[in-house]
Amino acid sequence: MKLGMIGAGFVARFQAVAMMQVRGLELGALLNRGGTQELARFSQENNLGPAKIYDSITEMAKQVDILAIYAPNYARIAIMEEIVDAVKSGAELKGVICEKPLGRSVAEARRLVQLAAEANLRTAYFENQIYMKPIRKQLDQLALVQKVMGPLSLARASEEHAGPHEPWFWDPARQGGGVLSDMGCHSIAVGWYVLTPLGREITFLKPQTVSAEVALLKWGLPEWRKKLLEGKGIDYDKTPAEDFATGVVTYLNPDTGQRVKAQFTNSWMFDKQGLRLFMDGLGPGYAFEVNTLVSPLTVFVGDVAAASILDQEATLEKSTASRGLLAVHHNEADLYGYTDENQDALEAFSANKDAFLPWSYGLEITRLVMAAYMAAERQKTIDLTDPAVQQELESYIPAIQQGHGKDVL
Ligand SMILES: NC(=O)c1ccc[n+]([C@@H]2O[C@H](COP(=O)([O-])OP(=O)(O)OC[C@H]3O[C@@H](n4cnc5c(N)ncnc54)[C@H](O)[C@@H]3O)[C@@H](O)[C@H]2O)c1
Repeated sequence: MKLGMIGAGFVARFQAVAMMQVRGLELGALLNRGGTQELARFSQENNLGPAKIYDSITEMAKQVDILAIYAPNYARIAIMEEIVDAVKSGAELKGVICEKPLGRSVAEARRLVQLAAEANLRTAYFENQIYMKPIRKQLDQLALVQKVMGPLSLARASEEHAGPHEPWFWDPARQGGGVLSDMGCHSIAVGWYVLTPLGREITFLKPQTVSAEVALLKWGLPEWRKKLLEGKGIDYDKTPAEDFATGVVTYLNPDTGQRVKAQFTNSWMFDKQGLRLFMDGLGPGYAFEVNTLVSPLTVFVGDVAAASILDQEATLEKSTASRGLLAVHHNEADLYGYTDENQDALEAFSANKDAFLPWSYGLEITRLVMAAYMAAERQKTIDLTDPAVQQELESYIPAIQQGHGKDVL
């Protein structure tokens, strides 16, 4: 199948590397925006596909089977409206992919689900961590144990690094908030997934309550605020967002009545080697743990040799150091689950089905993220079973996203 990418920045490049590991998927087209020429060259040099550059989504949609939205969060609705128009005027798309987070609010995520339905498009919500091979492997390895002993009752998931690359991520209005909007969606999703009893559907466990805290621990300090203003043009004195978030989601097993918990922690103040994904799960008599900073490969670069380092990020996403003992990943696209989510979308769309994680699932994750913002803002546990809360979440926009971060943080 031919895939067209809308967005040619950081994640698009990662996805292109992942696609090289999937048979039967080629990069057919790119939308003409920043970064497109480099990505087209990369695709052509690596036999990933012609990556022809188009000026409009309407033109591009006629040349491909799948469109993937890898553009910034604030551009989703306008892009999807154009895709729907293209389908209505004859583009024969098989499916549409959207990177996390599906929306900056429940209303936005719901609108995206409706737009896809309007054009009768199959969907894939790209939450890569659910596809991580270590996460899938522990499920396989512990399947029999789970059958005998019962499912996990506690999961902990975190994703942390020292802060995002592009200015729009730091702007709470354009991105949706701070680290909770950006990375809380990953940790909440993977926590829910690992707690789900084997063989049950992805939303089998019913979310009951959410408690959360958000804080600005590093990037609000005067010297770091100055760095942000000078380096990225973002003023955290006026419109700050959180660089730390943590919370607990409680789920109900509707068959057994058992309550299980998933804790999430996310930060943009992780001044260590680089990106770290950490997950663990505890069941009766068994457990698993994933820590992506533990790599089978390390390299050492001493001070005398450090001048020859060209690209510190070649070792690890969001790497912060270029010397000393460095963890190196030989295939981050595969480790983080990008390869397998592309494979799944390809297989699902070929069979005219939604992917394992459809956009309706992305909407559920957005709802949990919004409930976490609400819990932090109101300093109380949010009861997701209360119809009044459910109604309120439909139109809720976090104060931080609205530019009132100073009142909350
Ligand atoms: N799964 C993950 O771990 C992961 C990692 C990074 C980013 N993401 C998600 O991927 C998306 C893109 O993030 P990124 O880091 O690649 O951002 P980026 O800023 O590096 O790249 C964005 C790309 O979109 C293009 N663009 C900007 N406005 C556009 C518009 N209106 N229409 C079409 N294209 C437009 C830009 O020119 C650029 O090529 C975000 O939603 C982000 O949350 C996911």
